[in-house]
Amino acid sequence: MKKLFSLLLASALALSLGACGGSTTSESTGSAATSEAATSEAATSEAAESTPAEGEASGDLITVGFAQVGHESDWRTASTKSAQDIFSEANGYNLLFNDADNDSAAQLEAVRGFIQQGVDYIIIDPIVATGWDTVLTECEDAGIPVIVIDRTIDDSDKYVSWVGSNFKDEGLACGEWLKAYADAKGITEINALVIEGSTGASATIGRTEGFKEVADKYGWNILDSQSGDFTEAGGQEVMESFCQSYAGQFNVVICQNDNEAFGAMTAMDTAGVTYGVDGDVIIVSFDANKPALQEVMEGNLNANFECNPMAAPFVEEIIQQLEAGETPEKEIYMEESWFVAEDIAGESITVNGVEQPLVVVTQEVLDARPY
Ligand code: AHR
Repeated sequence: MKKLFSLLLASALALSLGACGGSTTSESTGSAATSEAATSEAATSEAAESTPAEGEASGDLITVGFAQVGHESDWRTASTKSAQDIFSEANGYNLLFNDADNDSAAQLEAVRGFIQQGVDYIIIDPIVATGWDTVLTECEDAGIPVIVIDRTIDDSDKYVSWVGSNFKDEGLACGEWLKAYADAKGITEINALVIEGSTGASATIGRTEGFKEVADKYGWNILDSQSGDFTEAGGQEVMESFCQSYAGQFNVVICQNDNEAFGAMTAMDTAGVTYGVDGDVIIVSFDANKPALQEVMEGNLNANFECNPMAAPFVEEIIQQLEAGETPEKEIYMEESWFVAEDIAGESITVNGVEQPLVVVTQEVLDARPY
């Protein structure tokens, strides 16, 4: 009966989410099993302590709802694929996937939909860092553990664990590399343009703060900083306007993800601005997806600071720990590398006292990349 109710609710919800512009898909068709053993900071309600659902004893699938940001970038595609690969039926999961298309309100509704469907776990990659406490309280009241990935939630701690990147460190690393590179090239004045990611996203906030901190330290000029929304079209549009407003005035472009960098390169090509190893403008990106690393290897991008999208295996481990009644770590940082086109800025960069190598991109490095 409970299963029938869940299925009816799921169908009704899928229709209503469709009407909101988001999209929810089920990756498999198993019945929902409630997690008896989930004990975490976020799963302390009565519902979490209730008796096991009928499916558990027969080894039914674990139902996971994943509220994804959207499909704005190659990085996002890799993140979605990673989750779909890990939370497959063959691995014992029923994945309900929602693409919120970068719409925060739709993402909140998707999470509420997962609650109504009685999923066992909810994964959230938050579009924006704030506005989460109410819906996370609703998850807690329903006894559904929440795992946050990639971007952070900054106004609530009602989730079990977060797995992601230190975005501010990425921005600091970018700045410290630029200092070493400019010194090696004899460049004494930096006039930078920044193409930011989506407004309100912790990835944008951290990268912007980190780079600005270094820029302030060395007295660089940040001529302008505008959002390209983490998309290629957005990067191109912002760079087209920068090329008009700041013609001949800039020698550095910081793109907060690879897709924006592709768009910025197109805009500079059109405007006749040269960039990269042999150009007038130093261009830097974040993410380090394979197509962008190819551009680094060819000298079209000077450096690229990795943001690792492969959080899903860590999330699976967290779910298994919860299933076993264990308490997972609250924060897990992904390992990331710093990639460069030329071997002239030293062998490493130190950020917050931690030294990390600079990896010159070769065909071998490229071939070894997983995404
Ligand atoms: O939150 C991670 C950022 O979001 C990645 O840098 C970007 O490509 C994505 O869209």
